[in-house]
Amino acid sequence: MTYIPAPDRYGKMEYRRCGRSGVLLPAISIGLWHNFGNITPFGVQQSILRTAFDNGICHFDLANNYGPPYGEAEHNFGIHMDRDWRPHRDELFISSKAGYDMWDGPYGDHGSRKYLISSLDQSLKRMHLDYVDVFYHHRPDPDTPLAETMGALDRIVRSGKALYAGISNYPADKAKIAIDTLRKLGTPCLIEQPNYSMLDRWIENGLTDVLREEGVGCIVFAPLQNGLLTGKYLGGIPADSRAGHDPRYLKPAAITEGKLKKIAALKQIADARGQSLAQMSLAWVLRDKVVTSALIGASRPEQVIENIGAVHSAPFTAEELAAIDAALAL
Ligand SMILES: NC(=O)c1ccc[n+]([C@@H]2O[C@H](COP(=O)([O-])OP(=O)(O)OC[C@H]3O[C@@H](n4cnc5c(N)ncnc54)[C@H](OP(=O)(O)O)[C@@H]3O)[C@@H](O)[C@H]2O)c1
Repeated sequence: MTYIPAPDRYGKMEYRRCGRSGVLLPAISIGLWHNFGNITPFGVQQSILRTAFDNGICHFDLANNYGPPYGEAEHNFGIHMDRDWRPHRDELFISSKAGYDMWDGPYGDHGSRKYLISSLDQSLKRMHLDYVDVFYHHRPDPDTPLAETMGALDRIVRSGKALYAGISNYPADKAKIAIDTLRKLGTPCLIEQPNYSMLDRWIENGLTDVLREEGVGCIVFAPLQNGLLTGKYLGGIPADSRAGHDPRYLKPAAITEGKLKKIAALKQIADARGQSLAQMSLAWVLRDKVVTSALIGASRPEQVIENIGAVHSAPFTAEELAAIDAALAL
């Protein structure tokens, strides 16, 4: 059936300026890393994306190697594009990336101009798109000169195959050099995509200062720490959870007693605030406006609906923030 988006969708979301650019992004964005490959029914994927858009999530995040297998999430997204999204293309902000291993041989990994440009060409074909809104270098490459990688991003933007350039997983010092290099080339860096959650606060150690000073946006991935920060593992590993059915990225051994103790204490704080732990975890990463968007994953539409509830959360009091720090120190 033809998809007709909810007419009130934009009223349900907060939109934040991405650094000092002209772009606004939804406070919550959706990623297609998991649940969009060949092991998830097409109808489930479709209802996740439709539910997201119906609730004002107009940013979909992909990468060349999302699957399984690699490339499959982009391939499936091409079919979603044809079935649902073509009439709404100008309402969507779509990203892709290259930087991790993608194909065999010396040109399918890391940060060369050869890899980035050919990878984006492949991604556009898979997704049935003429351009992406932002194209990222997915991770720093210690062996390729940054000038070459940033030069490739600049070339890509000038070619019209991406509207903006981004970097992902760059530590503060490398981010600063990448941002300076792109600015000198005349293609400002729109956005950095690092991981950030209550359980992993590394970006507070310099990276957020760089992004604030440079006026670069920040979209944080895995804000629920692969689902751990929803509290779903407090009673054991559910069979239909990431750790239960796809433990490559959330190994049961990583769900330690120590982490569960912190998560149980965090859940009590969320309960007292009258929200779910997932909602509090998202509100927490969004508490500082340097974070433009929290980039979630979802395995079913109900999770998207629950997570959207974070958007209009009450601000944290100083006591709540102190209680969260104390829970994390347990
Ligand atoms: N740049 C990078 O290097 C990089 C790396 C990783 C991810 N990313 C991006 O970030 C996106 C999000 O990553 P992520 O999926 O790890 O994020 P996440 O939001 O931390 O975890 C998402 C998972 O948590 C569970 N979940 C979400 N909401 C829930 C709820 N309300 N209740 C219970 N369970 C819930 C679901 O898994 P189950 O239901 O299966 O348990 C869901 O797939 C990716 O899709 C990708 O776009 C980027």
